[in-house]
Amino acid sequence: MASASRSFTRALRTAAPSFRTTSTRSARFVAPQQAFRQQHQRRGYASGEPNDKYEGNPSGLVYGAGALAAVAAGYGVYLMNPQWFGQTAKETGVFAPKFDDYQKVYNHIAKRLEEHDDYDDGSYGPVLLRLAWHASGTYDKLTNTGGSNGATMRFAPEGDHGANAGLKAARDFLEPVKEAFPWISYSDLWILAGVASIQEMQGPKIPYRAGRSDRDLSFCTPDGRLPDASQGASHIRAIFGRMGFGDKEMVALSGAHALGRCHTDRSGFDGPWTFSPTTLTNDYYKLLLEERWSYKKWTGPKQFEDVKTKSLMMLPTDMELIRDKSFRAYTEKYARDNEAFFKDFSEAVTTLFELGVPFTQPEDQRWVFKSSFD
Ligand code: HEM
Repeated sequence: MASASRSFTRALRTAAPSFRTTSTRSARFVAPQQAFRQQHQRRGYASGEPNDKYEGNPSGLVYGAGALAAVAAGYGVYLMNPQWFGQTAKETGVFAPKFDDYQKVYNHIAKRLEEHDDYDDGSYGPVLLRLAWHASGTYDKLTNTGGSNGATMRFAPEGDHGANAGLKAARDFLEPVKEAFPWISYSDLWILAGVASIQEMQGPKIPYRAGRSDRDLSFCTPDGRLPDASQGASHIRAIFGRMGFGDKEMVALSGAHALGRCHTDRSGFDGPWTFSPTTLTNDYYKLLLEERWSYKKWTGPKQFEDVKTKSLMMLPTDMELIRDKSFRAYTEKYARDNEAFFKDFSEAVTTLFELGVPFTQPEDQRWVFKSSFD
């Protein structure tokens, strides 16, 4: 049943005009070297100290140790830059993943999404996207801390933050993918899964760069960096402003709520935002503007329901997108124009997923993955 409805929405989507970034054609593929470099740079730090310690006490042993250290340092340089010695990474046996390798990971995630359609509304896509967003949305531009580099939500302090409740389902879903491709960092994998879920749920292409490395729990961010759904416009601006975003991006990113649902055992809120929670469209904006919304009468946290069917929901923060004048102008634009939404959503998500990541792969050489229905 879920497969049949997916095929139907796919067919619709294929028939509709879709947004494609220009980089689809121009993307050049560059192997990310950063994780590899960092590993070997760390190895290099150990070399200096013994020489200092034995200065003024020359002996055969010391010279021998010095020579050994020099050879070791030379080998470190060789490992870091085999091309200086006329050798490629392939010849040295060091695996340097390229675009094709990441496309294989993408395909594996897409296949698992297809196979495991017994979750929630028929897809793990929404919760995977939420994982990628919560990994990235901790970024603070002033201190340059947080963001998707590190995958620190693996550790108890951050994984246990209230905002991250339920994201274990997404992390567990990706564990077999990590096992099949052990060379990819969790941080790159989670973001790649976010990209794959958007594209597989028929959203726009999200250009991607690899190069995130996993970090230890000392890099966990403090609780409170992610938005609180019960708050108003000034809170939304404070949270997303801290990441470096403006009103346009705040409204465009919120369009992700076309997907998935709220769960009482996670956030306390309940229900989906749209009638097609596994297909990305601009319906979220249309429904916000076209439906009448009233407070849901229940004992749970304050949320809104549509008057007509009482089957859809909006969070207090969602309602700010029609209450606040500046936000509303973008909401109206995206409700009118799905292509404009897809374009701005793709740009804002690309920025979000890259916040605070020290890439070596240049901005103009991002990769665009083929979707399963391309
Ligand atoms: C003001 C900003 C935001 C607030 C307050 C907010 C809040 C929430 C809440 C309370 C849930 C329900 C969680 C649950 O009970 O399972 C949720 C789900 C979700 N959010 Fe947001 N969110 C915000 C922005 C975003 C952004 C920027 C994205 C992505 C770009 C996003 C993507 C999602 C998705 C896909 C789900 C569905 C997850 C699922 O079905 O399991 N949200 N959000």
